[in-house]
Amino acid sequence: MTATTSDIEKAAAVLRAGGLVAFPTETVYGLGANAEDPAAVARVFQVKGRPPSHPLIVHIGGAEHLGDWVEDVPETARLLAERFWPGPLTLVLRRGRRVPLEATGGLETLAVRVPDHPVALALLSAFGGGVAAPSANRFGSVSPTTADHVRAELGDAVDFVLDGGSCEVGVESTIVDATGDTPSVLRPGGVTREDLEAVLGRPLAVHSTSRVRVPGQHPSHYAPRARVVLVEPEKVVAEAELAQELGHRVGVLLPPAFADAQVKAHAVVAVPASTAAYARRLYGFLRELDQRGCDLIVASLPVEEGLGLAIANRLNRAAGPRPSE
Ligand code: TXA
Ligand code: MG
Repeated sequence: MTATTSDIEKAAAVLRAGGLVAFPTETVYGLGANAEDPAAVARVFQVKGRPPSHPLIVHIGGAEHLGDWVEDVPETARLLAERFWPGPLTLVLRRGRRVPLEATGGLETLAVRVPDHPVALALLSAFGGGVAAPSANRFGSVSPTTADHVRAELGDAVDFVLDGGSCEVGVESTIVDATGDTPSVLRPGGVTREDLEAVLGRPLAVHSTSRVRVPGQHPSHYAPRARVVLVEPEKVVAEAELAQELGHRVGVLLPPAFADAQVKAHAVVAVPASTAAYARRLYGFLRELDQRGCDLIVASLPVEEGLGLAIANRLNRAAGPRPSE
């Protein structure tokens, strides 16, 4: 099931030939192309249905290569790379000249990370270059955390799929803008804000868009087919049962404190009490509820600490703009 050495070599050859390879990382599966090949990168956007202005993350094989990909490595970035790579942290820095603007969506900055997965690291080592890769899903939908998710969603549009089992972290990397003097979090993810702050020795601003919902400007993202409705934890059961009575096929993400509740809904998933386990399984739950034919998912936000911040961000984004906001 897990990719063999010959799979890795084949995947590296596909990248060299300008093809697309889906590969496992510790966060989610990526849809990779040679970062220095503008035509291959363009195909990533086409396969995903992603607007060309939406930049990609370049994956590299080790922190020691960072200087080859960005214009300069500020002290803060060096510190974070040393401490968290390989791992679920993406650094935004000034773009080095070898990176085509196609990969950065026209930006003069580059998002770059070293993934912590043996298959991804073996691929990067066999390939030798940088791999530009967004999550291997259609634009706006739930990220894949198994090779089967990738095959189900992208099928033949990908030239080769490396199977590395289920992703350990389950939500995407934390993106930190490290271009200026004051780093900030652009997307919460697998490295917690608390861990970043402990290393930096100061508080970090979080500039994610999770709370900003200008109607029409922030379409839903990380979203299942079913509509996601977020309510307070103690209202999940009543809200779900009401919607079910009104004729919806309701899926419920039942908060840990209500794990024993009997809910009259179409599909009920008990959310794990540990946020690490919840993060690992979140996208799988959303896919499962879609598969079971739910048209509405009722959920609540976890406490926004540790990995709970990333989970809350994804659920907020999945729920999309609300008419009242
Ligand atoms: O865990 C992850 O980060 C996964 C795995 C495959 O590495 N990748 C991932 O890629 O989540 P994607 O394309 O789905 O999300 C990348 C995010 C986008 O929200 C994009 O806007 C942001 O990174 N990004 C990329 N380049 C950027 C830049 N130069 N400045 C600010 N944000 C950037
Ligand atoms: Mg994505």
